Amino acid sequence: MTDGESADGVRLTGIAKSFGGTRVLAGLDLAVRAGEFLTLLGPSGCGKSTLLRIIAGLERQDCGTVSIAGRPVDHLPPAERDVAMVFQSYALYPHMTVAGNLATPLEMRRLTLLERLPLIKHLSPRRARVMRGIMAEVRAVAEALRIEALLDRKPAQLSGGQRQRVALGRAMVRHPAVFLMDEPLSNLDAALRVEVRHELADLHARLGTTFIYVTHDQVEAMTMSSRIALMDQGRILQLGTPDDLYDRPASLAVARFIGSPSLTVLETVADGVGGIRLGAVRLPFGHRFAAGTRLSLGIRPEAFALPLGPEADGPALAARLVRAENLGAEWHLHVRLDLPGEPPAIVRLTAAEHEAARASGLLEDPLTLVLRARGVHLFGPDGARVEPDPAHTAVVE
Ligand SMILES: Nc1ncnc2c1ncn2[C@@H]1O[C@H](COP(=O)(O)OP(=O)(O)OP(=O)(O)O)[C@@H](O)[C@H]1O
Ligand SMILES: [Mg+2]
Repeated sequence: MTDGESADGVRLTGIAKSFGGTRVLAGLDLAVRAGEFLTLLGPSGCGKSTLLRIIAGLERQDCGTVSIAGRPVDHLPPAERDVAMVFQSYALYPHMTVAGNLATPLEMRRLTLLERLPLIKHLSPRRARVMRGIMAEVRAVAEALRIEALLDRKPAQLSGGQRQRVALGRAMVRHPAVFLMDEPLSNLDAALRVEVRHELADLHARLGTTFIYVTHDQVEAMTMSSRIALMDQGRILQLGTPDDLYDRPASLAVARFIGSPSLTVLETVADGVGGIRLGAVRLPFGHRFAAGTRLSLGIRPEAFALPLGPEADGPALAARLVRAENLGAEWHLHVRLDLPGEPPAIVRLTAAEHEAARASGLLEDPLTLVLRARGVHLFGPDGARVEPDPAHTAVVE
């Protein structure tokens, strides 16, 4: 499906929003495909929550249109938009059991006001019938979330992860067309966050419902999403799969935001004949910028290698080792490159690469670092990505 055919999902057209004099969303367009897991990723304050609240109908945009499943919903209140929102704080009813928390959204919809009154409610035969149906659905959702053993407990008797699952369940019982989630994992500790992250991805695969998920955590975004919309200052910098954003960043800003440790950025100039110069090394990119055009070269930490085996022939830079960090499965070498200004860089080696390099004496100062083609990105004077010419795929001349 192309962006133009995604009428079934959520379509945002020209959404703008200001608070007071401050522009928070700057005429934003986004087509979310039906059934996809789309993440709004970006730094704090970039407008993610505001955008999600506009989709939910909790906030009114200044201009632009929100369509859900092909129909404009701008005139509809939140309850009629067929969306369910899960917040960072789970906001469960503390006096109710898990079963009661899950059943409440359905009771509100299916029972009359009279049938919900404490004294009268037990006199209605229709109510008993409706409640049996509701409890069957509650049990089905509880099974899907593996909380069926907790149905009789109160929220205070649950762990953070269990509470978050109940909050999800309360959204699920309504079978919305779209789930909207605003940093739902940020109240959980690190281990639980990983666990619930897997559960969410799994849940999305089973439900096949559209998820729009807000986070400023790139690991969450990279591991769960079908696509990521990377936002900054009320705009979308790039919309694409996690691979697109990591391997083909559209701009220097995207390249800097995605990836940890962050990539090394070196300022260089075009040599006028399709290459750039880094000290004594020339890297051909096949693009003929005028000589002297200022360009930025972004190098992922794993795009640096030590001159071992077949890597030994690549373009090489000298560097001074500042610090080596052992992370178990990998090492991060903090170095200063032997270029004007001695720019700092981070080199990522697998434990095996590190071991082989040490055995070969390649970790003695000064280091020789080889550049791999994959993970080296060039950006033009405006910060936009420069695609390497397919005729010059190798970095080495
Ligand atoms: N009701 C409001 N009144 C005034 N300013 C607001 C309001 N809501 C949000 N803002 C401002 O709008 C900007 C975007 O806020 P928003 O909550 O959408 O950011 P966010 O991307 O969700 O950030 P975070 O990652 O910190 O949650 C911020 O500068 C914020 O201070
Ligand atoms: Mg927010």
